[in-house]
Amino acid sequence: MPSLLEQCDARAGAAFAALGLDAGFGRCGVSNRPDLAPFQCNGALAAAKAAGRPPRAIAEEVAEKLSADPFFAKVEIAGPGFINLSPADAALAARAAELARDSRCGVAPAATPRKVVIDFGGPNVAKPMHVGHLRSTIIGDSLQRLFRFRGDDVTSDVHLGDWGLQMGQLITEVARVMPDLPYFDEGFTGPYPADPPVTMDDLQMLYPRASAACKDDPVRLEEARQATRDLQAGRPGYRALWTHFVAVSKAALKADFDALGVQFDLWKGEADIDPLIPAMVEDLKARGVAVHDQGALVIHVAREDDKRDLPPFLLLKSDGAALYETTDLATILDRRDTLAPDLYLYVVDARQADHFEKVFRAAVRAGYASDGQLEHIGFGTMNGPDGKPFKTRAGGVLKLADLLRMATDKARARLMEAGLGQQGEEAEREDVAAKVAAAAVKFADLSNHRTTNYVFDLDRFVAFEGKTGPYLLYAAVRIKSLLRKAREAGATPGPITVAAAEERDLVLALDGFGEACRQAYDKRAPNVLCDHVFVLAQAFSKFYAACPVLPEKDASVRASRLALAAATLSQLELALSLLGVAAPERM
Ligand code: ARG
Repeated sequence: MPSLLEQCDARAGAAFAALGLDAGFGRCGVSNRPDLAPFQCNGALAAAKAAGRPPRAIAEEVAEKLSADPFFAKVEIAGPGFINLSPADAALAARAAELARDSRCGVAPAATPRKVVIDFGGPNVAKPMHVGHLRSTIIGDSLQRLFRFRGDDVTSDVHLGDWGLQMGQLITEVARVMPDLPYFDEGFTGPYPADPPVTMDDLQMLYPRASAACKDDPVRLEEARQATRDLQAGRPGYRALWTHFVAVSKAALKADFDALGVQFDLWKGEADIDPLIPAMVEDLKARGVAVHDQGALVIHVAREDDKRDLPPFLLLKSDGAALYETTDLATILDRRDTLAPDLYLYVVDARQADHFEKVFRAAVRAGYASDGQLEHIGFGTMNGPDGKPFKTRAGGVLKLADLLRMATDKARARLMEAGLGQQGEEAEREDVAAKVAAAAVKFADLSNHRTTNYVFDLDRFVAFEGKTGPYLLYAAVRIKSLLRKAREAGATPGPITVAAAEERDLVLALDGFGEACRQAYDKRAPNVLCDHVFVLAQAFSKFYAACPVLPEKDASVRASRLALAAATLSQLELALSLLGVAAPERM
């Protein structure tokens, strides 16, 4: 079921071919002068060079052929040989009917599904999620939805940071505060208590304290290092305590992810990967991939043509300790062996670009993956008004749960001011406020290209005017209410006809969904989808203002407009769902 643009491509291609020219010259695009025509073909300019003839002459011959095709209402030449193409209303109506019937809203699934692992979220045990994790979560979730929609076999993995020095720091801090707990008694033979000795709040208080103490005091740091080594060597009390830290953190993290409507297939942690490291290191040494360098074990990953100095990949430090990058390399090995992915995506802060560059090069050198199979999907920071990564007024990192609470408070107030979302029981009103808040935060994050930094401005995110999540929810809810009223009045959708300019523009907007999905997918760029939903919502709003639906006297026109409204709602909801945004029934 080709889009209108693809149908223009095919027809213009055939016209070029009929002149003995390459059909590829017929490639069309969305016009940059939509006031003149929705589509344009610039192929005559390139064809002129190839054929050694004036572009205008070629354009005229192509245009003459296309004018005879009832698919087009108007074919015009502009400038040196641009061909402006306007499909006929009947062609628009036929395409709209296809879109209205199709549960995938005109986007065919990929012919070759791929096995894709998406690593995102990446929160750490005992630390609250902050806005960096929020961005990873929102962008990663949109990508997992988009890739699944395309037909890929996606496995998402949260890759929990549950290993390393911070665990030793916590253990030693707890040992100071509660030295009598059995976890620290080496003579204790168990069983250890089933209930955790700390809450999430305790952990969030203890960890920063431990980390600060280790910065100031080398003795404390050595203590924490020793505890980390003991934990990693399997000291039973430390393992038992660590298991509590992980369980308490996971419960809190799951609540945060639930609030965002985000799910992961795998909850693997760095600790799950740790046992694979010794054999991997031995193998890399044996194959000469890893070499000794000043007491450490490294993999040389720098290349001749590197524009900047990339330090070697550090496999093991001189004290034998594994690092963040060691774990990431072993994780690739684990994923290869358990999932055999075609593609690995890492949705992680752009500031970790060097880390991933080293990991990917090491993985290729080790033969675990090939170039191009591993992608770092980096993103910029969410900044405060001062242009620096956002901090709370107290100077701390903003916790995700607090951010969502702030957004929900603001959404509630906005809804109240606008006289919206006040029907129903308290529970429904709260649900509407939560949906508006989530849409506001997610859409604000996704609507910029992921690599750009943006400024945290809740007032703007939660506004019902402009390119915002709440505006789009309101657009969807308005159509839902129209369709509900139509049902109550016994009006049903019928065959689509297109006559008004606003109807034309709405069909053209609907038709652009496939191209938007393709680009968003190819560039791993959900902002392209955001642009599309906004264009669609605006096209609907103009249509709805200009073309009466329920008040329309002509029953067939009314039925056609209802069908257009229903098709718009389906696509709007589908596109929003790919962004991880859910619309309420009413507000
Ligand atoms: N836990 C890490 C952090 O907070 C992010 C993990 C990203 N994923 C990965 N495979 N390294 O920075």
